[in-house]
Amino acid sequence: MNDNNFILKAENLHKSYRMGRTQVSVLKGLDLAVKKGEFLAIVGASGSGKSTLLHILGALDRPDKGVVSFKGQNLQQLTNNKLNKFRNAMVGFVFQFYHLLDELNVLENVFLPAMAGKSVLGWITSRAEAKKRAKDLLTQFGLADRVNHKPYQLSGGERQRTAIARALMNQPELLLADEPTGNLDSATGNGILDVFEKLNNNGQTIVMVTHDERIAQRAQRIITLTDGQII
Ligand SMILES: Nc1ncnc2c1ncn2[C@@H]1O[C@H](COP(=O)(O)OP(=O)(O)OP(=O)(O)O)[C@@H](O)[C@H]1O
Ligand SMILES: [Mg+2]
Repeated sequence: MNDNNFILKAENLHKSYRMGRTQVSVLKGLDLAVKKGEFLAIVGASGSGKSTLLHILGALDRPDKGVVSFKGQNLQQLTNNKLNKFRNAMVGFVFQFYHLLDELNVLENVFLPAMAGKSVLGWITSRAEAKKRAKDLLTQFGLADRVNHKPYQLSGGERQRTAIARALMNQPELLLADEPTGNLDSATGNGILDVFEKLNNNGQTIVMVTHDERIAQRAQRIITLTDGQII
């Protein structure tokens, strides 16, 4: 298939962690391709390397060996500075434990990614628009009357919907989610998957990792990470 059909391609990824004298090989020559507009679930046992893989795909970490390319751009060729810019513009992350900042209210948490990398003047000129987008996203996720709450004043599902709004703030081409329902009861978790489904129906590319087969069933395609490779 032509490379243009893929938003993300990983080839021959290797990653190991050294702990004292022992080396743990986590990824062992992993290949993966994600099509634009797809909703992909990656399943695997605890410790199989799902989070490690997701961090590498989202340029939060680098592989020891192998290539990740995003729309044909080899990420290994980017300096750390360029990689940070790339990540902030192109990738949104959703985590199991939300990672919201308790000192900021919900609205501020959501527009924070729009501030990253901007000068004071740049932020002042774009602030009103960013706040409007943050409010629109929160309204879309049923949180219009929670904008002034602090994260610790929200339920788990509300926190995760806030985190999804934050992940979408910069209109990323790729949404990555690491066990996004792992901390929620099943009804609330299904609500989060409804949000993902709707986003995907509107064209959002999503890669979600989970150890839960039932959660994975909600995606369009499921692949399994075993022994450091996709089988
Ligand atoms: N920073 C690190 N230093 C050393 N070892 C690590 C590090 N991060 C992960 N590992 C090891 O790499 C392996 C894969 O970890 P990873 O977090 O990617 O698994 P996972 O599939 O996401 O598991 P879970 O489903 O429990 O979240 C584990 O054995 C873990 O102990
Ligand atoms: Mg994990």
